[in-house]
Amino acid sequence: MRIAVIGFGTVSKSLLKVLAEKSKLILNAYGVEIKTVAVFKRDGAFINNNGLDLERIVNSQNYRNEVDWVNSADFNKLAGELNCDCAVELTPTNVETSEPGLSHIKTALEQNMDVVTANKGPLALYYPELMDLANQVKKRILFEATVAGAIPIFNLVRNTLRANKIISVKGILNGTTNYILSRMTSEKLPFKIVLKEAQKLGFAEADPSYDVDGIDAAAKLVILSNALLKQECRFKDVNRQGIKDITPEAIELARKDGFLIKHLATNENGVLEVAPRLVEVDSSFAVNGSLNVVKLQTDLAKDLTLIGRGAGGVETASSVLNDIIEIAILRR
Ligand code: HSE
Repeated sequence: MRIAVIGFGTVSKSLLKVLAEKSKLILNAYGVEIKTVAVFKRDGAFINNNGLDLERIVNSQNYRNEVDWVNSADFNKLAGELNCDCAVELTPTNVETSEPGLSHIKTALEQNMDVVTANKGPLALYYPELMDLANQVKKRILFEATVAGAIPIFNLVRNTLRANKIISVKGILNGTTNYILSRMTSEKLPFKIVLKEAQKLGFAEADPSYDVDGIDAAAKLVILSNALLKQECRFKDVNRQGIKDITPEAIELARKDGFLIKHLATNENGVLEVAPRLVEVDSSFAVNGSLNVVKLQTDLAKDLTLIGRGAGGVETASSVLNDIIEIAILRR
């Protein structure tokens, strides 16, 4: 299967590294060959019709001098000529316009490509429209990496909870805010200092207000709600409160009563909410650091709780790569 990767940030570079390492294993295990023929950056692209040398691209010190580099190449203009089967959209999330991801996804579908994405913006704003478009052109959009990084929540429901109705969802969907609240609790440090730590560790969004104001978690909740609860909703439908006003004193007061303050995303009875909430110290939401939790209430399997890494390049690439392999298997 021929793929084009759009975006060259942390997740994209991790994906390209893992693809370089594991292509043979994937071929042996699943009988599919994944060939990356294009990688788009903001100012151009690496393009090679016979497949790119991924290690070389990731380690390149001066990418503009690479033989496969094409200055100013733009996915939307070139998509028709790439002869690709699948577009992997990994540009940064934007919840105001959802661009440039939205145009990339539409172009890919219109050019007969399946789509894998880790970009939350297009699905948080236009989930119903994008799924309609994919159905019309008989292509798929897989988006495991958009919510809770490495936790395989959509795959779990799609493949192993087929006859279940998902009744509600509750989770810690943002690693940065969980890290901040955990550190404020264990070290009694103020918000601003721990935010800087989280940024240094590399899992905060480029604009950290996306994390601390609950924008990132709200986008993820909307995707979960559309995909799993079959509720047509959009980013604007989420009641959202961030964690900026949580003080070490409030955390200490809660702790004395046996509670932790966690930033929870919930869809119960169709109401979407992201807000700081008290949880008991022995609850399944009492996880530390940048971990995410997703708890589903279902009619047949009842309650299921998944805990795992919600951020990080390789962790997120794990989900992106699984979606790519799934599409390759389905296209065989
Ligand atoms: N900034 C996000 C987080 C990254 O902290 O969870 C993953 O979406």
